[in-house]
Amino acid sequence: MSAIQSKIKTFLDEIQNTEINDSTSLEAFRIRFLGSKNVLKPLFGELKNVPSEDKKSVGLQINALKDKAQALFDQYKEALSSQEEKSENIDFSRPGEPFEIGARHPISIIRNEIISIFERIGFGVSEGPEVEDDWHNFSALNFPEEHPARDMQDTFFVETGEREMALRTHTSSVQVRVMESSTPPIRTISPGRVYRNEAISARAHCFFHQVEGLYIDEEVSFADLKQTILYFAQEMFGKKTKIRLRPSYFPFTEPSAEVDVSCTICKGDGCNVCKHTGWLEILGCGMVDPEVLKASNIDPTKFSGFAFGMGIERIAQLKYRVNDLRMYSENDVRFLKQFKSAF
Ligand code: DAH
Repeated sequence: MSAIQSKIKTFLDEIQNTEINDSTSLEAFRIRFLGSKNVLKPLFGELKNVPSEDKKSVGLQINALKDKAQALFDQYKEALSSQEEKSENIDFSRPGEPFEIGARHPISIIRNEIISIFERIGFGVSEGPEVEDDWHNFSALNFPEEHPARDMQDTFFVETGEREMALRTHTSSVQVRVMESSTPPIRTISPGRVYRNEAISARAHCFFHQVEGLYIDEEVSFADLKQTILYFAQEMFGKKTKIRLRPSYFPFTEPSAEVDVSCTICKGDGCNVCKHTGWLEILGCGMVDPEVLKASNIDPTKFSGFAFGMGIERIAQLKYRVNDLRMYSENDVRFLKQFKSAF
């Protein structure tokens, strides 16, 4: 190899292996290989000593060397400047981007709010199984044998092999369990899911949620019931809310009533939501029937009590004005995202 070719090779090695990691080393590289007094220049002067048949190929090699240096320089310059740009743009004092943590389901929000309202007046929370026996769902609650709610059309029965079980049709089953396992005074609410054999539509669903309430002590009166419901209605719907009780019938309470609240939208003046009556139904209630106390070994000559049951979806409908029940179980995030609450 001629002297000039070994120089070309040495420079090529150097160009390819120079470590460039900051602007100082990049500038040194530029001066050495591309500056006005760069080390490649003298090679062109030496070309005149190369035999004429090799001149062309050696000339091309020197040019390639220069191009290589230029290409590497451009590449490093680009990499370094975008690196600098990035680090210049970092503002370490900037608060982090908020990230979505999801939202509570509206049914959970209302359930928690109901629990909180009753906890403030001394009620505890109790729960029972969703797959329930006939005793707790019906018999202990004084449902006669031929009561239509026991019918296949209303109730989902579950084959267990040993005995017939059903998906509970209401959370009243939990009041029986609480009465069986504790002694008065009893103050409890029981939130949970219930099931009924209904075709799914905007107004009905095969499962929904209820909260059952039970208060048993000596000398509990209907006035206590009424005042408790009034307190609940005003905590839930606002201090100006009125209630009205209409006589009704449930097998497990006597007397029984259905409770309406003054319309949460028009405040009683009459609108589409309350169908121009000024009232909206929110729950069923009554004094616990002495037969029901007896069935759970509570002495009805010593104790009395009241019970009530409400649908959580119903309360949510009134609070959020969501009229289609199906929305609550379709899990559409566009729907679910809208509910923000302290509960
Ligand atoms: N269990 C009833 C239902 O599902 C609601 C209810 C009414 C519960 C009156 C009660 C009550 O405790 O006293 O429709």
